[in-house]
Amino acid sequence: MREMTAVYPGTFDPITNGHLDILARAASVFPHVILAVAENGGKQPMFSIGRRVSLCRDAVTEAGLEGVEVRRFDGLLVRFARSCGAGAIVRGLRATSDFEYEFQLALTNRMLDPLIESVFFMTSKQYVFLSSSTAKEICRYGGDVHRFVPDCVARAMADLTG
Ligand code: COA
Repeated sequence: MREMTAVYPGTFDPITNGHLDILARAASVFPHVILAVAENGGKQPMFSIGRRVSLCRDAVTEAGLEGVEVRRFDGLLVRFARSCGAGAIVRGLRATSDFEYEFQLALTNRMLDPLIESVFFMTSKQYVFLSSSTAKEICRYGGDVHRFVPDCVARAMADLTG
């Protein structure tokens, strides 16, 4: 891969081990990956944007990932990517059900900026059915989330839900 910056965007409410798995794969290919946390008015988040960003930073440190920077963004993803000098958008693929949405997102982003490529990494099989909502639901009903989210996130979730 050329010396290129990649942006890995998402809501990360909260970041899960599945996201970290994709991030680690991206960081092994790209010298610089920006984990871009969307402010995203569309969803009713469990964690504020500031907290999601700080949890992502803690999770990256906990995982010992190098070459990763965490930033927040609002508005069009391609505009943010270009403002960072990024040439690629990283997305993770879990089950085949992700494909249609990802295809649509990638083609829309390509129409908006043909010079930014979308690049896909396959998740590890233990995370195929993991999502942030699943982790939140397990936590809400008193289940153990440690297998699904980084330790810092498990602590933050426990603090929120009592
Ligand atoms: N492991 C675990 N969970 C994963 C995952 C993985 N590898 N990949 C995705 N997920 C989960 C997420 O946690 C999320 O779960 P949730 O619905 O329970 O919260 C769900 O899958 C969807 O995640 P994702 O596809 O990353 O969507 P998102 O809402 O987190 O992020 C943006 C979408 C922010 C990238 C997209 O809306 C965007 O680019 N917005 C900016 C506006 C724009 O430019 N739009 C494009 C033109 S239309």
